[in-house]
Parts: sequence; structure tokens; C-alpha cells
Amino acid sequence: MISDRRPDDMVRITTPELADAFIEEQLKALREQIGDKKVLLALSGGVDSSVVAAMLIKAVGKQLVCVHVNHGLLRKGEPEQVIEVFKNQMNANLIYVDATDRFLDKLANVSDPETKRKIIGNEFIEVFAEEASKLDGIEFLAQGTIWPDILESEAGIKAHHNAGGLPEDLQFELVEPVKILFKDEVRIVGERLGLPANMVYRQPFPGPGLGVRCPGAITRDRLEAVRESDAILREEFAKNGLEGKVWQYFTVVPDFKSTGVKDGKRTFDWPCIIRAINTTDVMEVTVEHLPNELIDHLVNRIISEVDGINRVLFDYTPKPPATVEYE
Ligand code: XMP
Repeated sequence: MISDRRPDDMVRITTPELADAFIEEQLKALREQIGDKKVLLALSGGVDSSVVAAMLIKAVGKQLVCVHVNHGLLRKGEPEQVIEVFKNQMNANLIYVDATDRFLDKLANVSDPETKRKIIGNEFIEVFAEEASKLDGIEFLAQGTIWPDILESEAGIKAHHNAGGLPEDLQFELVEPVKILFKDEVRIVGERLGLPANMVYRQPFPGPGLGVRCPGAITRDRLEAVRESDAILREEFAKNGLEGKVWQYFTVVPDFKSTGVKDGKRTFDWPCIIRAINTTDVMEVTVEHLPNELIDHLVNRIISEVDGINRVLFDYTPKPPATVEYE
């Protein structure tokens, strides 16, 4: 049995050997806890839920049922990677739900940031609960809770994202195999479980996804401009050795248009804002100063490849006063 709390004297997992020992111990505990029962997991493709999935696939194979809800606000290639890694490579029991239309229809004409977040959160729980109610014999719910989540919820900083949101008739016993680990430990464990490096070392990505990078009321065309420009930015950061070096980088497409000119004709399109930041605790953030050549190249690619964009702007504001995300 693995303890519920991180022991004070627990050695920080910094090497493959320590990760392997943790995995071995955890697999044994999971098999004891779960027996021949079924476990359900909301698999977002983020670091924590991916590592939990990989661990449970090793422990109980097809007794794990993963549900990947695509809310239409994921980055380019994300749902595809979840399917490729978990269904094709790890042979997981994976239910893929494309709920894009449901989410975007509910979000249409909603411009208030907090209301947008609430709609996304509530709709997520609804879609997940619907999928869960179609399944028989599930006794456990797995979650990617990690040690800082528990510390922060105890300190009253943030609500512990446990099963609290699920309807009454869908209460399961929790399985939380990485809950005594810090983030850096979760990444090493994930690597040792065979997850790709770009999955375990990926930059932070907010739960409401690209929805907060499409400020104001989300439209499909502007959302597509955010997704395509983000994909270009990530590709260029990877090519230029900045992936894994810069803490977080993304694009935002605000809801206003300005005049431009293309092929001798007037355009009236959106700007695309690039934000690249560094931090250790996300309370204070500094800006990454990009090389001039890369700046020129990014501008050129985004204005020529992304529909609806005629200007590229760079956000060089630290936090405080500006938060990382725009909403
Ligand atoms: P802010 O904008 O508050 O962002 O300076 C700090 C960090 O938190 C991430 N972030 C979120 N992560 N759900 C999340 O899981 C959210 O609703 C959310 N909002 C912001 C943000 O990307 C940054 O890394």
C-alpha cells in the first residue's frame, strides 16, 4: 500500500532507477486496490492524466477505460496524439468523444471570461458523466492529482479538482497513483512508462484551452486562427531550440480588426499576438526576448499562412501587471 501523504523523508525522484522503484511499488498497490474491477479516467492528454493512464494500462490493462473529450479548444494535433499514443501504441481501452459542436454552440456569443470558463467546465462534466453512465461495472475513478494540488487545496489556494463535480449517482472510489509526486517526478515516471518526451515535458496548457486565447465571444474562424498560429509558433520554437527552454509560449487572436494591404488590395483582418514567458512559480513572470531573425520569420509565416491575420504583435509585458493568459 502506498501512503496517502508524501512521507517527510521521501527521496525526490530524480533518476530512472528511483522512478522505476516507484512504478514497481505503485503497480503492486494498484493491482491490490483494483483487483478485477474497472477504472474510469478522463484523459485530457496533459502530463498528469497521461502518466496516470500509462501507469494504469501497465497495472490493469483493459480494465482501465479512458475517455478523451475533445472540447474543440485543444491545440492542433492534440486529440490525434492521444489516440496515437494510447490507443494505437499502448492498446488502451479509449473512448474518443468529439464534442466540439456542443461546446462551441454553448459558447457562441458568450463574451464574459468567467462565464466562458464555467460553460467549458460544466459541459466537460456533463459530457464525461454521459459517457460514464453508458458504461457498466465501473467502480473506480482515476485522477491525475499531484502533491502540489493537495498542498494548495489544504492551504485554501485552489479547490482540489477531485470528483466533486460529478453527479451524485456517479460517485466512485478514487485511484490517484501520482498524488504524492511533484511535477518533475511525474515527468520522469511518465518517461519511464514509455510516454513520448513531448508529452511529459510539454508546456503548461490551461483547462479551458484555446478558449482563453480567443478573447471575447469565440467564433470558429478566429479559433482556427489561434490554433494555426499556435502550431506555427510551436514548430518554430522546436526548430530553434527553444522548446523545453522557454516556460510557456502561445498566440492570442483578439476580437478586433485593423486595415492592411495584400496583393494591392485592402484587407480588414485580426492581429495575432505572440507571448513567450519564463517563470519558476507563475506568480512572477518575465518575458523571453526572441532573436530578431526569428521574430521576422514568425511574422512572415503567420501573415502568409494563417487566414484572417494581417498583423503580428509581440506582448513584452511581465507579470505583474499582466497575467500570463488574456482571460
Ligand atoms: P495566469 O493567466 O493566471 O496563468 O497568470 C498562470 C498559469 O496558469 C495557467 N492557467 C490555467 N491552467 N486552468 C489551468 O489548468 C485554467 O483555467 C488556467 N488559467 C491559467 C496559465 O496557462 C499559466 O501557465
